[in-house]
Amino acid sequence: MIPHACKLLQGRVVADVILNETEDELQRMHLQRPPCVAFLRVGNDGASVSYVAQKEKVAHTIGIKSILKVFDPAQITEGQLIGEIKSLNLDTSVDGILVQSPLPKAIDFVNVCNAIHPNKDVDGFGAENLGRLLQEKNGFTPCTPAGIVELLKFYNISPAGKHVVIVNRSLIVGKPLAALLTKHSIWGNATVTLCHSHSQNLPQLTRQADILVLACGKPGYFDAHFVKPATILIDVGITRISDNSPRGYSLQGDANFEAVSPIVQAITPVPGGVGPLTVALLMRNTLQAFKLQNNFAT
Ligand code: GUN
Repeated sequence: MIPHACKLLQGRVVADVILNETEDELQRMHLQRPPCVAFLRVGNDGASVSYVAQKEKVAHTIGIKSILKVFDPAQITEGQLIGEIKSLNLDTSVDGILVQSPLPKAIDFVNVCNAIHPNKDVDGFGAENLGRLLQEKNGFTPCTPAGIVELLKFYNISPAGKHVVIVNRSLIVGKPLAALLTKHSIWGNATVTLCHSHSQNLPQLTRQADILVLACGKPGYFDAHFVKPATILIDVGITRISDNSPRGYSLQGDANFEAVSPIVQAITPVPGGVGPLTVALLMRNTLQAFKLQNNFAT
């Protein structure tokens, strides 16, 4: 049997459309100063260093300014990090604030996110923005979940009435994605199952998915046994696998691409799938933060 063609959902293409729109809008505004986002990073974890560098690079490409503050994990306390955030909250030259996760164990990421002023919370992880998301009120929507919805819109894949199974319950991906996809909206109205490390019979759950979202950081774990034909597979996993390439690693998603791609209807590649969307949505959120702070209509 000839395997049916599996459609690649090119997040990078969708991200470029969003970045072009954001850049065009920025240029039309003829601003006296560019929007500015502050990145706070604790330590030198390789993945975090490259994610923040990528966010800064894309920001500069489209005309958004950034500042980067790096802290020594052996020196900084939660209270001091929150102190830094409070001074950025008061700084009128800074529109958005992002604290790169993960943080060292001694610092509570949620406490830190809650210290960011809600109008500067471009990640949307603070209590006010997450609450507003659950209430279906305007606010900042976390970038990866918002990017996944943009990907579905671009490819005209409606989640309404479908069974979406999400393997992740974090504040960064699973919980806000479940809230977005269950909104009373044409790009919501899904039936959502949130799975996590205590879920029993995971393959039985994931095989029910019309849309399957994987974000558990287990490279190549999800093989043929976890998917049904016609599933739309969104792979949020991005794990570095050491190799002999010049950069020393390759990136691998949670899906075993070779095993599942002959079965599923469509799949996001890793890299080039969800990753670029997260960055693009951060740029859109930063423009929104600029408008909020500078009395432009949002
Ligand atoms: N770590 C992994 N993804 C993210 C993200 O979207 N935002 C932040 N702040 N940290 C992350």
